[in-house]
Amino acid sequence: MQVLTNKRVLLGVTGSIAAYKAADLVRRLREAGADVRVVMTRGATEFVTPMTFQALSGKPVHRHLLDAEAEAGMGHIELARWADVILVAPATADFLARLAQGRANDLLGAVCLAGSNVLLAVAPAMNSQMWSSPASQENVRLLGSRGVRILGPDEGEQACGEVGAGRLLAAEAMISRLAALFAPGSLSGKTVLVSAGPTREAIDPVRYLSNHSSGKMGFSIATAAREAGARVILVAGPVALATPDRVERIDVVSAMEMHDVILAHAQKADIFIATAAVADYRPAQVGDEKLKKDDSRLTLELVPTPDILAAVKIRFPCLFCVGFAAETQNLVNHAQQKLHKKNIDMVAANQVGPAAKATGGTFGSDDNALHLFWRGGELELEQASKDKLARRLIGIIAQRYAQHCAHYIHGDVIHESNQA
Ligand SMILES: Cc1cc2nc3c(=O)[nH]c(=O)nc-3n(C[C@H](O)[C@H](O)[C@H](O)COP(=O)(O)O)c2cc1C
Repeated sequence: MQVLTNKRVLLGVTGSIAAYKAADLVRRLREAGADVRVVMTRGATEFVTPMTFQALSGKPVHRHLLDAEAEAGMGHIELARWADVILVAPATADFLARLAQGRANDLLGAVCLAGSNVLLAVAPAMNSQMWSSPASQENVRLLGSRGVRILGPDEGEQACGEVGAGRLLAAEAMISRLAALFAPGSLSGKTVLVSAGPTREAIDPVRYLSNHSSGKMGFSIATAAREAGARVILVAGPVALATPDRVERIDVVSAMEMHDVILAHAQKADIFIATAAVADYRPAQVGDEKLKKDDSRLTLELVPTPDILAAVKIRFPCLFCVGFAAETQNLVNHAQQKLHKKNIDMVAANQVGPAAKATGGTFGSDDNALHLFWRGGELELEQASKDKLARRLIGIIAQRYAQHCAHYIHGDVIHESNQA
């Protein structure tokens, strides 16, 4: 399974006899879905050539700090910014000491300092006496206390012939530990389909019916799902928002277009999160020419647009579907009705209109509050920024999704539906 899909792993390789194992690690990280860049210390290049890592990662290998050309390309700050995680494997005793001291006298040390806000993991590899020395143990303890994740080492026979702790953690264990470092309830290897924004229903070539949805909540959810490791397909109505990093975006205008695009992509999705404020009605007739104003009244005949969420759930009953309910009144009742009527797995309800204005929430704002409902449970997520709220929501969706899968695997989904 691709447990590191979409993750950017900056692999630091230092001068241990285990450096050759890092070559296989690059291959396996890529197989696990990660995008890998390699930084080598000078010591590491004595053990394995940069060419090996370049061929395996498919990217130039970074080695020099004080090199104007390298800095003008992807310098140490850019490398740190690029990474979702910095993994130093193998990490020598000397590198651990430098890291503990905050030294920046080579590229890898400088990247680790510049990336002090990035997840940092080290996999020590050294002779067992070096590992158990008070200096190494003290350095590792200090690094651990600063939030650096220590992966391994393993015990066993060593290159020097000794037996004990100090072997580089095996690649398989390294990758699963790395995957576990990302958000608990991770969506690694899953495809999440998100709809966002309003739709526009044409009246004539220059006029349309729409609503105030800004798309911000959906875009924050797409970002949070991507951070949790998912491949994200974002189907967006007309909004003025930048595409989140590493999210596949498809722009649509009308409810009908959104319906067609979502149904075309739902088959490959594991989770569908419908945040779009899809117009419920569209004009029955769309004028070919601009309607001319005169003194008489104008009546527009409206016809219902397709119910996208209900259509998706009917066509793909196993797909975990989350609906959003923006309500001006009776929030709880309407949300629960939506959950049961559309037979979906979760509803995230938010207050809109005058009641929400008092708290500065919803349409166009950067903040929101949500009330989640599912069969047999509910949870209120307090007012917070849409980004923060989206991360919490994705964590809960991931948990509920895991239970949903367990039900399908054990075949007792009928039992759950009966309780509804
Ligand atoms: C043959 C050989 C093998 C080595 N293996 C290790 C090792 O496994 N772990 C370690 O901490 N140091 C090992 N060293 C020592 C490091 O290469 C040395 O401390 C070096 O300065 C580390 O540089 P770096 O951390 O910048 O890569 C080894 C040295 C030699 C000559």
